[in-house]
Amino acid sequence: MSELKVLFSREQIAVRVSELGQQISKDFAGEQLVLVGVLKGAAIFLSDLSRQISLDSTFDFIAVSSYGNQKQNSGEVKLLKDVDQSMEGRNVILVEDILDTGLTMSYLKKMILAHHPKAFKIAALLDKKCRRSQPIQADYSGFEIPDEFVVGYGMDYAERYRNLPDICVVE
Ligand code: IMP
Ligand code: MG
Repeated sequence: MSELKVLFSREQIAVRVSELGQQISKDFAGEQLVLVGVLKGAAIFLSDLSRQISLDSTFDFIAVSSYGNQKQNSGEVKLLKDVDQSMEGRNVILVEDILDTGLTMSYLKKMILAHHPKAFKIAALLDKKCRRSQPIQADYSGFEIPDEFVVGYGMDYAERYRNLPDICVVE
């Protein structure tokens, strides 16, 4: 059994997610949004973030596998589920749990831009800047974290711990 240490409490997360929602609402005032969550890790972040956005918004979901599992990302991204709606002419916010090497986001960004959205932004709850291998950054970022493996608030270690209300470090 791994040891879990709280990195961000549910209260800290709620405050930050609310700030991000307000910022997005301000930046896109008067516009409609489509929030595209990356399954499964971003599901909880998307559900909380969307309720802090005071604009006409819809959801969509995308699923990817980054071959290899657990703590190591092999670097290959495979699309398991595409969006259901058309992204053309829409204001798209791609919602992700963690921006790590950036491989997943670079792949998804390229894919969505090919559908000619009106605007494209990335919202990532956590950002492991020090791990980045691709030139990509989040437009809306919750917290910058060091190179540690985290779980909870949707994020897993071998599919476990997603339902923890706090974000914890696995030691
Ligand atoms: P990237 O393609 O290297 O940026 O990988 C991003 C994906 O790896 C994230 O969407 C997460 O699913 C997963 N990931 C990276 N770091 C962690 C972590 O600390 N905990 C859980 N999942 C992680
Ligand atoms: Mg993920």
